[in-house]
Amino acid sequence: MSEQTIPSLSGYEEPTLEAAFITLSEEVRTTAAETAADPEAFRLHWLGRKQGRLKLISEAWLKSAPPEAKKALGIRFNELKALVEYQLSPERLVKVPVSEPGLVSEYATQGGTIAASLQNKKHPHPLDITLPGTLRAPGIPHPLLKTMHEIVSVFHHLGYSTNLGPQVESDFYNFEALNFPENHPARDTQDTLVIANQQSRPSRDRLLMRTHTSPVQIRTMIAQAPPIRIVIPGKVHRNDAADATHSPIFHQIEGLCVDTNITFSDLKGTLDHAMKALFGSDVKTRFFPSFFPFTEPSADVQISCIFCGGKGCRKCKHSGWIELLGCGMVDPAVFAAVIAERRKINPADNTYNPEKITGFAFGMGVERIAMMLHGVSDIGHFYSGDMRFLEQFA
Ligand code: PHE
Repeated sequence: MSEQTIPSLSGYEEPTLEAAFITLSEEVRTTAAETAADPEAFRLHWLGRKQGRLKLISEAWLKSAPPEAKKALGIRFNELKALVEYQLSPERLVKVPVSEPGLVSEYATQGGTIAASLQNKKHPHPLDITLPGTLRAPGIPHPLLKTMHEIVSVFHHLGYSTNLGPQVESDFYNFEALNFPENHPARDTQDTLVIANQQSRPSRDRLLMRTHTSPVQIRTMIAQAPPIRIVIPGKVHRNDAADATHSPIFHQIEGLCVDTNITFSDLKGTLDHAMKALFGSDVKTRFFPSFFPFTEPSADVQISCIFCGGKGCRKCKHSGWIELLGCGMVDPAVFAAVIAERRKINPADNTYNPEKITGFAFGMGVERIAMMLHGVSDIGHFYSGDMRFLEQFA
């Protein structure tokens, strides 16, 4: 064990104190290693009431310290004492190999950040590799994200790629280019949240929270020539009151396929395959006439009830069918809006000539599909952050 000499302190500035106490903590570790067989000797050496090293050094350093340095010194003495006591703690005495201080100084000589963090005052104790590690619960994808991935992956297998667009959208992309004329009642079907103070802008530039993912159809076609096969997952906003099946913020996945010779049969085949891939190969689909301004003809897609197999139950209101998504053939008016935009850049552009090019689009609500797949009865569970709900998807 080292001689009882009291080191001298050359000043009270932070760096001097830091250096002095690093030396002292190294001394603690060395003596701990040397006296591993005799913890009592170690205790007396450092903590002895009369001749203990801590007491002697603190008397020598603290007494002569100017009043403003006493606090900083006191804190460091407490930390040093905690380090000494730690060496005497049962788990340390029993488990720690004598050679461990060497391990710590090895890190120190490598200039590693571990050594630095050990000497940091938040870590007065040396590295103890025998202690159990910190158990962290691994995260899981949120059930909505998981459902989105599942749906998107069905289409990736069909050769689709993914596109995204902004949630704050302009009137042009969200409505006008999708053939919702200004003041047309079709806009009422999508209760819109608009951004304030836009009155001075031309109506096509006014900003709103997108009510559907369809504006990304327009963005994609303006940017890129056919053939197009994309899916667009994303968040949408509507001025809807929240209840068990509605939320003002929800998620959709849009699909768009544009090429030569795309027919309604392609649309039916694609969605029939997708529904079977998602809900099981027994599921049947049927297409009902519907209306969307940007598709013509338009259809609502129903799938045979996955709860009763189509016999009729409470979930399908005894009809045997559940309505799941909207779709249709891209309306020529949409292509016309896209061509007009593309011609602003290249007046000769004819890539979306509706004589040659056709396409289909579809849109589905992610929450509704997730609720069906997992038997969730209240949409609010998805947004509650309640671990008891979320952990069921781990
Ligand atoms: N955007 C429509 C909606 O939100 C859904 C849809 C997308 C319909 C694509 C047809 C084609 O209601």
